[in-house]
Amino acid sequence: MILSVVSGKGGVGKTFTSINLATILSDIGNKVLVVDTNFTSPTVATHFGVTPDSHTIDEALAKGTYNPMDLIWVHPAGFHFVTPSFNMVALDDQALNTIFEMLRPLFSNYDVVILDGPAGVGRDVYYTIMNSDAALIVANPNYPSLFNALKTHYFAKSLGKMVPGAVLNMYRKNSISPEEASNILELPLLAVIPEDPNVKDALQHGQPLVKYKPESPAAKGLYDLAEALTGKKIRRKARSGGSIWEKIKEFLFS
Ligand SMILES: Nc1ncnc2c1ncn2[C@@H]1O[C@H](COP(=O)(O)OP(=O)(O)OP(=O)(O)O)[C@@H](O)[C@H]1O
Ligand SMILES: [Mg+2]
Repeated sequence: MILSVVSGKGGVGKTFTSINLATILSDIGNKVLVVDTNFTSPTVATHFGVTPDSHTIDEALAKGTYNPMDLIWVHPAGFHFVTPSFNMVALDDQALNTIFEMLRPLFSNYDVVILDGPAGVGRDVYYTIMNSDAALIVANPNYPSLFNALKTHYFAKSLGKMVPGAVLNMYRKNSISPEEASNILELPLLAVIPEDPNVKDALQHGQPLVKYKPESPAAKGLYDLAEALTGKKIRRKARSGGSIWEKIKEFLFS
């Protein structure tokens, strides 16, 4: 399954969702690849405090030939990722086409490929969605985000792609309700993820939230998303090195 994660508006939590979903899906035994298709302002690697200038998509593009293994970064959480460096700007269709032609052979080695997309509905988003089987829409509970997410939903549908549903991220009390958000998006909500200060703490520690604070409210929303996408009940993992009480709780209630 190749899943693009798109939103229309920027900064809504696509990368946060992609990385944590990848972590959960690899924890339950899948081989998972995350591709940062935000070619001109990549963020996947920076979420782990890394800014690669070699073993990158643009290095492969410049060389013309590459060994796929040279591109793959292995995250301690278990999933693999592929990233551009910070040197790419203003890509034309030919470059975008070549990049996906280079990357596509890698995809068949994985159970799940997550294409963490850029904002907007420009050519980079077109190529991201076109190279996926289904598009997951991420939105925040405000009108600018929701209407741009609706536009992206229609765009993915117009490209013949499945849109299984949306994630309402950064939800807080007194914002637009999940019901209204779902109506605007014309999609079921696969998860409602609350705004949660633990997300920033996890980022500062360079870790996926579901590893850093698996019991946090936002991590719960991410597990709900993984369960909705896989149709499976997923056992929440307590943090390794967590308190004895957490371990006892896990033992008693799982
Ligand atoms: N549920 C949440 N609670 C609190 N902060 C969050 C939450 N989700 C995401 N964030 C924070 O919001 C910021 C934007 O998130 P992220 O980078 O994932 O968005 P994005 O949609 O990928 O952005 P871009 O369009 O630039 O690629 C990050 O600092 C992230 O840590
Ligand atoms: Mg991003």
